[in-house]
Parts: sequence; structure tokens; C-alpha cells
Amino acid sequence: MSYSFGIDIGGSGVKGALVDLDTGEFVGERTKIATPRPSTPDAVAEVAADIVRQAGWDGPVGLTLPSVVKDQTVLSAANIDKSWIGTDVQELFGRHFPGRELTVLNDADAAGLAESAHGDPLARTGTAIFLTLGTGIGSAFLLDGKLFPNTELGHLMVDGEIAEKRASSAAKDRDGLKHKQWAKRLNRALYEYEKLFHPQTFIIGGGISRKFDSWGPHIQIKTPVIPAQLRNRAGIVGAAMAVESGIKP
Ligand code: BGC
Repeated sequence: MSYSFGIDIGGSGVKGALVDLDTGEFVGERTKIATPRPSTPDAVAEVAADIVRQAGWDGPVGLTLPSVVKDQTVLSAANIDKSWIGTDVQELFGRHFPGRELTVLNDADAAGLAESAHGDPLARTGTAIFLTLGTGIGSAFLLDGKLFPNTELGHLMVDGEIAEKRASSAAKDRDGLKHKQWAKRLNRALYEYEKLFHPQTFIIGGGISRKFDSWGPHIQIKTPVIPAQLRNRAGIVGAAMAVESGIKP
């Protein structure tokens, strides 16, 4: 049996739990603390350290950010303080979690990894693109369950606009769209992704995946589109998996 701790850092909350890596289930409670404002690196890292301390865990910790993380340096910051950009995350979290094995990766990449291990078998078969729809659109490219990190499909231009500005679930709420109207926008983005990358499967995560029955039938691309299975567990589980498998984007 192996365990690791996962922390999912978002614009509104920092969530963490100990994860049983064999089952992808939490061991004990999940803790959620509001993201500090301003959400500067040291303030957020202190909250993450609190969560781990409360759980009494002293082993490896994996963390996600809504950011591109390349060579363990933050290159973008969506919904968190812009001072994250340029942060060396090993240096930052190393100060708050001295002497531990750590990794930091993009939130959608972590969720995609978790789906590939514990979700629908199609997520670990051949080429799959995982998308998480929330405030933005995050993406993870998977080949037989292995990750190609930092793909950022939410930022592709579709019909002259950044895809996530029109097709995220926040855009649906902002524009007061019904499922069918919004599904047309998502369909446009998926059509472009299909044309460029030709995956064997699209997997859609984020809160709106729960309503898949309402909007799924309005998606009309050739590639199969399936809802994610791990729901809001995915980021934490993927972060814990990444540190245990030595993934350090
Ligand atoms: C960010 C991605 C992130 C996604 C979901 C996008 O706006 O650019 O890095 O994965 O939101 O949080």
C-alpha cells in the first residue's frame, strides 16, 4: 500500500488530502482552506503547509497550480496572484516543507493523470485529451496514460476568441446560457481540437461533467466524448500520483 499527499491550489480554495495511490481514494478527510488574498506564493504555500501539518503527514507532497509549470518554474498564473510568475516552486515549497520529496504541476495535468489511472479505461488507452471546464479550460494530453504536460488548449483561438472565454462553464454562467446553447460553443472548440490533434477520446471534467446527460447529446464531433469519473477528487489524486511517480514538469 502506498500513500502520498495531494494539494490542489485554486483561485478560491486550497484543498488537500492523503491519497491511497492503489485505489485513488482519500485516506481520512479532505481539508479545504480559502485561498489567501492576495494569493501570493508565500501566503499560499503557508496554507498548504498548514493543511499537511493538520493531517500529521511527513512524507511526499504533490501540488497543483492553475499555471504552466515548466522546469518547476511557474510561467503563467490564472486566477492567482501574478507574482507567481517566475517562481521556482522547489525553492518556494522547499522552504515551507523542508526535507520532503515535492512536485508541482498544472491542475488539469494532475486531474488528467488521475482520470487515466482511476477513471474510464479509455482515458489510459491510446491518445486521449482530458479537458476540465471551470473558470477556464484546462487540458491534459495523455498517451497510454502518460502525460505530455502544459498543453493549454483553453487558450487556443476559436472564432477569433480565446476558447475558454466562450466555452468554459464560467462563460456559460456569465452569459446565462442553457445547456444546449453552451454545448454549441463547446462543440466549436472540440471541433478545432479534433482537427488539430485527432485524439481517440475526449474526456470532460469539472463540475459541469455531472450534467453530461443534458449537454452531451448536443456535441457533434466524430471523436467519442465521455464525462470524467473522479469529479472534484481528480486534482488532489493526480498531485499525489505525480510526486510518487517522480513526475516533475
Ligand atoms: C489556465 C490553465 C489551467 C486552467 C484550469 C486556464 O486558464 O491557463 O493553466 O489549467 O485554466 O484551471
